[in-house]
Order: sequence, then structure tokens, then C-alpha cells
Amino acid sequence: MSAATFLYKSDPARGRQWAEVFRRRAPEIDFRIWPDIGDPAQVRFLAAWEPPPDIAARFPALEVLFSSGAGVDQFDFTILPPALPVVRMVEPGIVRGMVEYVTHAVLDLHRDMPAYRRQQQEGLWQPLTVRPAGERRVGVLGLGSLGQAVLAQLVGLGFDCAGWSRSQHHVDGVQCHAGSEALQDFLARTDVLVCLLPLTDATRGFLDARLFSLLPRGASLVHVGRGPQLVEADLLAALASGQLAEAVLDVTDPEPLPQAHAFWRHPRIRLTPHIASMTQPLSAAEVVIDNLQRFERGEPMLGLVDRARGY
Ligand code: GLV
Repeated sequence: MSAATFLYKSDPARGRQWAEVFRRRAPEIDFRIWPDIGDPAQVRFLAAWEPPPDIAARFPALEVLFSSGAGVDQFDFTILPPALPVVRMVEPGIVRGMVEYVTHAVLDLHRDMPAYRRQQQEGLWQPLTVRPAGERRVGVLGLGSLGQAVLAQLVGLGFDCAGWSRSQHHVDGVQCHAGSEALQDFLARTDVLVCLLPLTDATRGFLDARLFSLLPRGASLVHVGRGPQLVEADLLAALASGQLAEAVLDVTDPEPLPQAHAFWRHPRIRLTPHIASMTQPLSAAEVVIDNLQRFERGEPMLGLVDRARGY
């Protein structure tokens, strides 16, 4: 690779771990951590969660923008040069984190832990029927690398698994549904719905009263997509009516969730502060260097964003 600056603009402590990997694997690259940008005209690659608003003017030689996270919905595409390749973070650490979080949430719901926590509060010793995993139908919205890895784990645990996405996919042991006309059948067979969709114009407000009404009564939601995909009032109404039994939310809108918000103290909602999964610096830097090598060879990069699609 010719003399080039790779600029990292995200958490500096994690950036120092990226720097270690670059020193070892790509010493020819001048790896810099924001705000130490060096000569802006040398910046060919930028990894950021939030790029600077003057990105186009400031870095005229920029060739690739890497998101430091799995999503790219935080980017304002209108300020990015139209032909600039944008790459999502697809790395083993973020995948493993998501598999752990969703598996934990699904097992917790499957084994009636919310009910046992309530019973404990009341001092109630009362066994509930234990159902085999094969009788629990889990459905995952979104069949990207995260959705597929989550499903592989849940299939391994014996759950009856299905997935839904806008285009047709194949995942071993999973009934895959594609497109809006297949959504109803997918929802009708889903006891635990996991949302792993990217945030786009098509998925904003996707988790609404109509969608909840198509699930079997008493289904549960695990939301690990993006806050704006959920219509909050519709979730509260579905929980109040019993259409939904429980909700596990790792994302809200806005984040952090305001103190007075009803979700905080709702007995059927469990909240975590957007920690389901996080980019792991060491494995992320390895994946980004692999992608830089693909880019220099003129091969397609993994996680390349299709701007028309929005992810
Ligand atoms: C977190 O939500 C991410 O996009 O990495």
C-alpha cells in the first residue's frame, strides 16, 4: 500500500488497540487517532462512528469510510461524497456479542424467568410447566451476518426457528421467509420475535400495533435493532392488552432513555443500555486490514454498503 493515512475517529482507548494491530500487520500505513490527523490531504481511509461534518472538504483524498460499528444509520449520507465507498463493521467480536445477548434473552423468556422473578418478589414457590425448546418458535427479523449467527446458535439449542428478510436467504435448519407478502406467515408462527433489522426508511416504525397483532397472543419481543423501529405507544398497548407478554429492549429512541419514560419501570419490559454487542477493537482492526487489502487488489470489501438500500 502506498503512503497513506488511516484516521480513526471513535473511542481513543479502543483506537490504541487498533493501532497495535496496524503496527503489526500494516506498518506501511500511517495510523492516526483523532484529533491527531496529520496532513488531511494524506487521509485516504477513515474509520468513524460520527464523521466530521466537513468530511468532503477536509479530506479530499478520502477513498473509504469505515463505520466503527455494525450500523451506518448514524451517518448523514447527504454530506458524504456520492461515490465514496462506505463499509459496515462485520467482525467476529460483534457477532459473538450479539449471539450471547440474544441467546440469553431467548432462553430467559423460554424458561419463564420473568415470571419467576415476579414470583420471587411475592415469595411464591410455584413451578411452571417446562416446555422443550422444540416447542418454542423463535423468529428473527433480519438475516444479515448477525441474524444468521444468532439463528445458528438457536437452532443448535433446539428451538423451532424462522427468519424473515426483504430478500431470499438460506440458513441451515431455518425456515426463511422473504418480502412483505411473507411477513404475515412468519409472524403467525413466532412466539419470540427478535428484531435485528438495519434502520432504513422501510424499517422506521416497523414494530407497530399491526405487526404485534399478527403474532400469536402472548408472544414476546427482543429488540436489538434500532430504537426508531419501535412504536413505543403500540408496545405499551400490546403489553397492556396481553397481546405481548414481555419485551427485552436494548435500544430506545432517544438514547439514553429519558428518566421519566414509562419503559424504565414497566414490569414486563427489561431494558439494557444498548450493550447487546460492541465492536471488539482487536478483531475489528484485523477485519478492516483484510478489507483494505481487498480494496487495494480491486476486490469487493466485506460489509460494503449499498446506499440505495441503506445498509
Ligand atoms: C451498535 O449498535 C453498532 O452498530 O455497532
